[in-house]
Amino acid sequence: MLIRKDLKHVERNLILSFESSCDETSVAVIENGDHILSNIVATQIKSHQRFGGVVPEVASRHHIEQITSCIEDALSEAQVGYDDLNAVAVTYGPGLVGALLIGVTAAKTVAFAHHLPLVPVNHMAGHIYAARFVKPIEFPALALLVSGGHTELVYMPEPGKFEIIGETRDDAAGEAYDKIGRVLGINYPAGKEVDRLAHLGKDTFNFPRAMDQDDSFDFSFSGLKSAFLNTTHHADQLGETLSREDLAASFQQAVVDVLADKTVRALADYPVKQLILAGGVAANLGLRERLTTELEAFDNTELLLAPLKLCGDNAAMVGAAGYVFYNQQQFGDASLNADPSLEFDWMSTAE
Ligand code: KG4
Ligand code: ZN
Repeated sequence: MLIRKDLKHVERNLILSFESSCDETSVAVIENGDHILSNIVATQIKSHQRFGGVVPEVASRHHIEQITSCIEDALSEAQVGYDDLNAVAVTYGPGLVGALLIGVTAAKTVAFAHHLPLVPVNHMAGHIYAARFVKPIEFPALALLVSGGHTELVYMPEPGKFEIIGETRDDAAGEAYDKIGRVLGINYPAGKEVDRLAHLGKDTFNFPRAMDQDDSFDFSFSGLKSAFLNTTHHADQLGETLSREDLAASFQQAVVDVLADKTVRALADYPVKQLILAGGVAANLGLRERLTTELEAFDNTELLLAPLKLCGDNAAMVGAAGYVFYNQQQFGDASLNADPSLEFDWMSTAE
């Protein structure tokens, strides 16, 4: 019996992974880092919509209510038990501290009770590794990480090493989408609907492309957001009705231009085998189309788009990243705590 179990463990590595950094409670079972046996995602979006954004206390409460049934569903859908697992992986930052704590506590409890190694995962590394479900990541790689809280260009010389070469100096791209979406009367999170409207309109407003021409790889979206708000406010005062489709198209074109231009310039300085697009905003069809076109000019760089269904927060991506850190034996212990402003630094020094 024991021998059979050991053999099974050699053949397949099973990681139970947790994600609770914001408004999705998610638990997954991932086989060998690249195969999803289950990926349960309990979204809380409806509870936050009436507030126009995520309310931290409400998020924590929902995570507590959902986490146990998410674990049960993830194991039963994967048709595995605790004894089949090799490790437990968990997002421990960045994110909302009260929300992160629920996932971290649940993961520590399972790891402790079942004598399993605990693998701490940076949420942003998780987003990058969503692309692992498309094909193996080849290094060096560059990731354009665009989410509700982050907009970063991340250089990865080898597995588990992350260097931020550019980031937003103010709003994240997703945050800007959500803010201008509100003015267009779209519920939080607005990105997907703004993207849909944008495809029906034209770039007639010529909004600013902040920092597009400067030498850094940093981004700024607050000027674009203000230009958008000023335009709509001014029209309101004059009693004019502007085309929502054209407003969305103009906003999206400005965002996509800056993201694509900076990424292409970064590729010139950092020749890589793959460019990975990941994070919630990576679901943006305009951005996916634009990068696909731009990458045609790069013979030696392949574009890896995170699967549409895995762009938003989910535990499968945490399991994929967790598998890499598991193999590098980057383990946590009972002292692991949530780190709301976790950065990539801790991993870039790890050997
Ligand atoms: O990565 P994510 O699920 O959560 C964070 O870690 O922040 O990203 C959520 C963000 C939201 O701001 C949402 O509006 C945006 O991703 N988003 C999009 C699209 N789908 C989601 N933004 C632009 N276009 C989309 N299609
Ligand atoms: Zn995220």
